[in-house]
Amino acid sequence: MAALDDVRVAIIGLGYVGLPLAVAFGKKFSTVGFDIDASRVAELKAHHDHTREVTSNDLREAALLEFSSDPAALAGVDVFIVTVPTPIDEYKRPDLRPLESASRTVGRAIRRGGVVVYESTVYPGATEEICIPIVERESGLVFNQDFYAGYSPERINPGDPHHRLETIRKVTSGSTPEVAEFVDGLYASIITAGTHKASSIRVAEAAKVIENIQRDVNIALINELALIFHRLEIDTHEVLEAAGTKWNFLPFRPGLVGGHCIGVDPYYLTHKAQQIGYHPDMILAGRRINDSMGSHVARRVVKLMRRRNQDMTKSRVLILGLAFKENCPDLRNTKVIDIVRELRCYNAEVDVHDPWVNAEHAHEEYGVHMVAEPQPGRYSAVVLAVAHGEFVSMGAERIRAYGMPDAVLFDVKRALPRASVDGCL
Ligand SMILES: NC(=O)c1ccc[n+]([C@@H]2O[C@H](COP(=O)([O-])OP(=O)(O)OC[C@H]3O[C@@H](n4cnc5c(N)ncnc54)[C@H](O)[C@@H]3O)[C@@H](O)[C@H]2O)c1
Repeated sequence: MAALDDVRVAIIGLGYVGLPLAVAFGKKFSTVGFDIDASRVAELKAHHDHTREVTSNDLREAALLEFSSDPAALAGVDVFIVTVPTPIDEYKRPDLRPLESASRTVGRAIRRGGVVVYESTVYPGATEEICIPIVERESGLVFNQDFYAGYSPERINPGDPHHRLETIRKVTSGSTPEVAEFVDGLYASIITAGTHKASSIRVAEAAKVIENIQRDVNIALINELALIFHRLEIDTHEVLEAAGTKWNFLPFRPGLVGGHCIGVDPYYLTHKAQQIGYHPDMILAGRRINDSMGSHVARRVVKLMRRRNQDMTKSRVLILGLAFKENCPDLRNTKVIDIVRELRCYNAEVDVHDPWVNAEHAHEEYGVHMVAEPQPGRYSAVVLAVAHGEFVSMGAERIRAYGMPDAVLFDVKRALPRASVDGCL
């Protein structure tokens, strides 16, 4: 292995996870940021990041970082860090194709003494069972003799200015004790919050996936309580506020669970569990509840509209926010689309407005035509679906002004005062 102070790093995949990492390493080590998407590489070379996770100043300050979509740029690299997507397919099974393809790229470039560290979220065993054999095959090198591996899951939270790469403690691991020490030292040099060295790659893989499963299941429980309390005509947030005064009551809130992580990662573990003959009842029940919340919101809005004798076939509804979460342009697996689709099933016309989202992406991904400037006084109902800072600072009165005088205002995120809206989760 190369000496830590003389190491050349490559980050494979420059998305929400890979880019901040490339910038952090590029301030200290000679670093190649590699992505198969040439347009992504071009925008980064021009010091622009459309994900808004790093600023153009950050990109300029990473003086040792260069970007490329040409695998030839990976020659001479000592440590490859893989940060490609790990989505699910239409049957909710892990889609490992980006990981396999990145492993082929690494296998063609890795030299004797090289280390490949995976950061993408997977199930326990995926690194050693799926990725390493590909690297071995492509390189002709022998694992743990000629080259080594590590796994260090990512915990960043896009759109969150407080929890940044450097300030979140990082779990590390390696395929031998020496490599674990090397990988830990490498990350410790950029992570000010410190590291936690796990005992094995499988432990580190499992730790990451359960962090997201724990959130998913907890939110599912609160969503189920919200469904019950709505029927009982009790305000869920008031109940949570009261219960939250107990020292060990956890502060989860009801809501849509979308995005590339919490709504997807549980299927990685359930897939592995089923492969070894265990049916994971609880994890899948949580997924089912969370996936139903978008249509629940839409049905609540329709009921409120009907109570005001609004004719659905003549109604136009405005949805504020399409991104899967606040202050972030990420559209992947957004559950707001479930609200849109369900409302359309009731023959409502639906307009979507989101200043964070790229309108072309929204159309390509979901067939949604975004409205750049919603017309005041036009809508029968307005749904605040994502609590972007812009919407919250508008306040209920200005949001209501998009609606007709008897319009329904529904607040999915409970971002507005309860008394100022007609319904919320
Ligand atoms: N986004 C998050 O908040 C977050 C947080 C923690 C962990 N993760 C995990 O990190 C991984 C990456 O997620 P992301 O959100 O950064 O994804 P992303 O879609 O934002 O970025 C992935 C990048 O990888 C590139 N890519 C795809 N295949 C490639 C290949 N074969 N070679 C080189 N580049 C390739 C894509 O072009 C894209 O630019 C996933 O496993 C995800 O679950 C994500």
